[in-house]
Amino acid sequence: MIKFKSILLIVFAVIITQSCSDTSTKSDKEKFIDNLISQMTLAEKVGQMTLYSSGEDPTVPVFNPKFREEIQKGGAGAIFASISMDSIKYLQGLAMKSRLKIPMLFGYDVVHGYKTIFPIPLAETASWDMKMLEKTAAVAADEASASGINWVFAPMVDLARDARWGRVSEGAGEDPYLGGLAAKARVKGFQGSNLKNNNTVAACAKHFAAYGASISGKDYNTVDLSENYLREVYLKPYKSAKDAGVSSMMSAFNEVNGIPATANKKLLTDVLRDEWGFDGFVVSDFASIGELMNHGFAENKEQCAELSINAGLDMDMEASVYKEEIVQPLVDAKKIEISKLNNSVRRILRVKYDLGLFDDPYKYCNEDRAKNKVFTKSNLAIARDMARKSIVLLKNENQLLPLNLSKLKTIALIGPLAKNQADPMGTWIAQGDTTSVVTTYQGLKKQLPKNSKLLYTKGCDIDSDDTSDFKNAIKIAKQSDLILLALGEKGDMSGEAASKGNINLPGVQTKLLETLSKLNKPIVLILTNGRPMTLEKEVKLSNAVLETWILGTTSGDAIADVLTGKYNPSGKLPMTFPRDIGQLPIYYAFKNTGRPSNPDVRYSSRFLDIPSSPLFPFGYGLSYTTFAYSNLKIDKETLSNKDVLTATVNIKNTGDFDGEEVVQLYLRDLIGSVTRPVRELKAYEKIKIKKGETKTIRFEIIPERDLSFVRADLSTGTEDGDFTLFIGGNSDAQLAANFKLKN
Ligand code: NOJ
Repeated sequence: MIKFKSILLIVFAVIITQSCSDTSTKSDKEKFIDNLISQMTLAEKVGQMTLYSSGEDPTVPVFNPKFREEIQKGGAGAIFASISMDSIKYLQGLAMKSRLKIPMLFGYDVVHGYKTIFPIPLAETASWDMKMLEKTAAVAADEASASGINWVFAPMVDLARDARWGRVSEGAGEDPYLGGLAAKARVKGFQGSNLKNNNTVAACAKHFAAYGASISGKDYNTVDLSENYLREVYLKPYKSAKDAGVSSMMSAFNEVNGIPATANKKLLTDVLRDEWGFDGFVVSDFASIGELMNHGFAENKEQCAELSINAGLDMDMEASVYKEEIVQPLVDAKKIEISKLNNSVRRILRVKYDLGLFDDPYKYCNEDRAKNKVFTKSNLAIARDMARKSIVLLKNENQLLPLNLSKLKTIALIGPLAKNQADPMGTWIAQGDTTSVVTTYQGLKKQLPKNSKLLYTKGCDIDSDDTSDFKNAIKIAKQSDLILLALGEKGDMSGEAASKGNINLPGVQTKLLETLSKLNKPIVLILTNGRPMTLEKEVKLSNAVLETWILGTTSGDAIADVLTGKYNPSGKLPMTFPRDIGQLPIYYAFKNTGRPSNPDVRYSSRFLDIPSSPLFPFGYGLSYTTFAYSNLKIDKETLSNKDVLTATVNIKNTGDFDGEEVVQLYLRDLIGSVTRPVRELKAYEKIKIKKGETKTIRFEIIPERDLSFVRADLSTGTEDGDFTLFIGGNSDAQLAANFKLKN
């Protein structure tokens, strides 16, 4: 008996100490938020959980004047696409008239810049230079925040392996490791070290989850992935964004394994909150809560609200479902617990608190900063540097590039993208102004010597079948020593709702190239496009090929920097380039299968009519110089989880220019309880090497970090066995070493 009493006492004491420490350790922030929530009516709570479009940006529906009244009653937590400081001040003023004076968030799609437009995210990732990605996100945050915006719908971190999907342009490509680093860099860039600073903004990683895995690359389409593949590949970049402290996430339009992401409790609560510990909020994508009805997942608005609130979806973007008249009856009927609403509101208020909006709701509306911080010379210089670092040199026969300007007296610049200002901006250009874009023509004009002639004609449109200008193209090509051919896609052929069934050059552009190639003049193909394309014929017909993606405001300057050799290209592909549309989806980290692809074996995993190999592998990209890899060494052949394996390799610059190389390390786990990809990127380093110089690069393999995977039972960890390590300049790296993990 005595024993029992003393046990009880101990238990009691522990409970008391714990609960005391709970209240005493609650931060001022949490106390402030608790206090606010305790005063809120249900209408005010769902108000915080509502986001309206301002209608000022032409891409969104017009602002409904009725919303103004609602804002004054505390009926909106956030406004989207309010783009003038005056309107932001005005709308925030309305929120300040509400009973509890809770400031609103002002969100905007700042996907690759605000006014200074940087390369599209896929292009930036091709630089493999995470410091630069962080820098451009920081500049975008600086410009957006100077204009009143405090929340950006970026970064887009959806991994994608099917180039038909137009939104590959907005992401970081096909690889979870590279995508994870890009996500982290961008979140850090937007949010800085402290959200309280007035030049940082809350970021929103999107679209949770697996939006990039839509079947056949068709936008908004179904996603069906094994749990293993989802966790091992697709979820990783979101997790990196979370680990980098992202303030919010946006749910995806698609369903995942039968449950729409918008109302997917497993994703939004079990994984995101309970497993990962994410304490920011989740906003839906545009109207996606209402789309639960189209999915065939909810019958009516009431059910949409019930399912998404219970799943953990905190804020409704434009579906007008989180409304008092819809939610109150659900609470009364005990279909939604009030604690669920409180949690959602708490998560939203936390971000407002972190931003310092309760101290000063107008802190982002600063005329001086708007005047002095936006579209500055230094921002443009960063954009130019980022743009040239994003360019990938795909082919350079007989070292045609850089242009030998002492010999080339007359150059023909031909193509619908040569003097084009709109298309090199792409989609999601926020407040970017296409008339300020430097075209390839202008960029070259600035850099070519006075005595060289630059002739121009358009040749054809991007996507019509008009060949009437071919004759002018032939004429100026004949007068020239070299042809620069600027071909590609329109800016809006990638991005949202821009899936394509064909990823060839549109219109008669290839025909133009074929026609010009008959003149036997050297041809440099300059590509502007937002996705990998099928370019086998075009690459064959050209002597040199530059993949310039969509480079933004300083496009032409950056292209000219590379053509003239002012900058030696160093970009590497963040996505595999297919030979044929029939190969999609195509990616380097495929599985070996039971019948590995062999062109000579009929009953192997292959196509009868097209090869299995890509046109250009992931990680590929040339430089004006050449690099020779040798002497790969590992310091042990067997290791346990407690050891660290060191791999070293020598890289010699064997060409005629100083240059930069991205040294890439891939691993293959030969046998697993779940089959493993033939290669996985595990580390890389981007280094500068002077001509003639050799550098030794050292990588560390830490088993728990680098050899772990999602095993058959869905736990994550290592498995003993054999591994092969590859180091080289792309995912087809040939230098290899074997080691064994033995615990
Ligand atoms: C829909 C897009 O999927 C999303 O990325 C974007 O942030 C919202 N619309 C708002 O523009």
